[in-house]
Amino acid sequence: MPFEYKKVLVLGATSGIGWALASKLVENGVSVIAVGRRQANLDDFAKQHSNGKASVDTAAFDISKLQEIPGFAKAMFTKHPDLDCIFLNSGMQRHLDWTKPEEVDLETVDLEILTNYTSFLHLTKAFLPYLQKQAPKPTSMIYTTSGLALVPILYCPGYCATKAALHHMILAMRQQMKDADSNVKIIELFPPAVQTELHDAKHQPQMGDRGKNIGMQLNEFTDEAWAGLSAEDNEQVPVQMVKTMMGFGGWEQERQKTAQKMWGFMKQQQH
Ligand SMILES: NC(=O)c1ccc[n+]([C@@H]2O[C@H](COP(=O)([O-])OP(=O)(O)OC[C@H]3O[C@@H](n4cnc5c(N)ncnc54)[C@H](OP(=O)(O)O)[C@@H]3O)[C@@H](O)[C@H]2O)c1
Repeated sequence: MPFEYKKVLVLGATSGIGWALASKLVENGVSVIAVGRRQANLDDFAKQHSNGKASVDTAAFDISKLQEIPGFAKAMFTKHPDLDCIFLNSGMQRHLDWTKPEEVDLETVDLEILTNYTSFLHLTKAFLPYLQKQAPKPTSMIYTTSGLALVPILYCPGYCATKAALHHMILAMRQQMKDADSNVKIIELFPPAVQTELHDAKHQPQMGDRGKNIGMQLNEFTDEAWAGLSAEDNEQVPVQMVKTMMGFGGWEQERQKTAQKMWGFMKQQQH
């Protein structure tokens, strides 16, 4: 099945996974509006795809500026009323070591929660009404979480918690939308470790040089993620070891079945 949507706003498209998947979208004839803070990277993206199979626009925006999010959503839909997919992919990761509490920088911890979780709630609130108004046309919100939403690692427990919070929110949100027969599909992409700028020494000096070599190669990731996003059964797209070693194909299924049972039980109690 081809990817179902025709114009996608990709947040976090200035490098890594967002850049690669935004490129894949354009290569497959899907229009893209690329978003991130780095204007030079946005310009490079637009230049690289200037003769592509679909239109490309860009917008510089900092998602941590929560008060500006409603205006940003309005501006995007005023310019692109046919936007039918919002892809929330931006993110940051930082080291956190509780054995040295004196070294824990709470401002960084707060910024990670703001960037990876709180801003996603604000973005969801701002963008959803524009997608809902397009009913019955199918639309979607895509969220990039992580295999670390399922299994925390010791290096960056704060990051893992932001992704776990987002995963829980998505599971319940998806069911709410289904119960309301919504035209908005809620999609979650779970990358494993991938070679992007996420682990770069510029962000995480503790990683040193090995940061950029952590995880699977970006092109391999992108091919598998794209196949998953374009599949009929694309609500949850776990990639590579997320399916196996990180539990998506095993106990995570049990957890989600238990959630379904709980939701059914609670509905019965209400009647
Ligand atoms: N790479 C991995 O191993 C891995 C594994 C699992 C999940 N993920 C997730 O995949 C997503 C993409 O990360 P990546 O690996 O591709 O890393 P990346 O190369 O560092 O890309 C991060 C993207 O997020 C954007 N971003 C960060 N803070 C932002 C802000 N305040 N406002 C707007 N944009 C912001 C960056 O753009 P600007 O800097 O230009 O603003 C950049 O485009 C993230 O959600 C990450 O948590 C990555």
